Amino acid sequence: MHKQQLIDTAHALVADDKGLLAMDESTPTCHKRFDKLGIPQTEEYRFAYRELIATTPGLSDSISGAILYDETIRQSTSDGIPIVNVLQNSGIIPGIKVDAGAKDLAGHPGEKVTEGLDGLRDRLAEYSQLGARFAKWRAVITIGPGLPTPGCYAANAHALARYAALCQEAGLVPIVEPEVLMNGDHSLARCFQVTEDALRAVFRQLYLQRVLLEGMILKPNMVVPGLDCPIQESVEEVAAATIECFQHSVPAAVPGVAFLSGGQSSELASARLNAMNVKYQSQVPWALSFSFARAIQQPAMELWAGKGENTKAAQKALYHRARCNREARRGEYDPQIDAVDAP
Ligand code: 13P
Repeated sequence: MHKQQLIDTAHALVADDKGLLAMDESTPTCHKRFDKLGIPQTEEYRFAYRELIATTPGLSDSISGAILYDETIRQSTSDGIPIVNVLQNSGIIPGIKVDAGAKDLAGHPGEKVTEGLDGLRDRLAEYSQLGARFAKWRAVITIGPGLPTPGCYAANAHALARYAALCQEAGLVPIVEPEVLMNGDHSLARCFQVTEDALRAVFRQLYLQRVLLEGMILKPNMVVPGLDCPIQESVEEVAAATIECFQHSVPAAVPGVAFLSGGQSSELASARLNAMNVKYQSQVPWALSFSFARAIQQPAMELWAGKGENTKAAQKALYHRARCNREARRGEYDPQIDAVDAP
């Protein structure tokens, strides 16, 4: 195994208070977001948008690594420079989404299992050749009446661990993402319990599959009340619950916890990450970082709206959100300054 290389990459991904930018939306997900803003759903527009992101001046001030989609890792800018090289030249480590999406779990109505293990060893070898140094696999866990089931936890944890072991064999750092969805009216306490159960199941399987914990990054949800729950806890309460949950279930050997945003507003995601770092960073063994897609991209995509003349304004917005999240890692995020500075 490429032990030292994995450890070095995992540390580089959370170094210097920077975090990850997820720009790996599958084509259907990307089109769903374009559709809401009236952006044409074509390869040309997907490329223009990804080029806008990758060429944002100064993005590496706050971003250590960017997660690409299969389509993007093979593309070059209009000047003929591979997107991977644009990122590398600016000091951003390229990563790649390697799962094939969450599909219905047979025998478990309302639940999903993530597919993509078949042929993964060969795909990882190719992505490594193309310049990727880390990879991502997302599992989704739904909370609902009688859900999640033991079968859902087990199937997703097993797939995550098989994926992570294959990544490490190929010298790629696995980003292990078990996402407990925010949809529903469940309480924060219920999210706490399900997140703890999911993480315990995942780390049990990572152990069985001999995954080097020092050479991976965990990408979890924050512990939050369901979107439709009438009680919405404060930023500080969410930070406290999230940290307590992870202290129960995440081994100290893991170098970094890089949260997904999961549909929280950009500002709330920054504020909650900030609150965790202000109060708990000195008490926990892992870096508390971010691996956001929507919470970094959304304002930029809205400003761009598919129009070339908006590219610079959109890049400013992207830079701004990335910087807010670096400040949140330092416990220095100020929502009032954010509101004033936002383009
Ligand atoms: P969000 O931050 O939009 O939840 O996306 C993170 C991600 O990469 C999901 O796999």
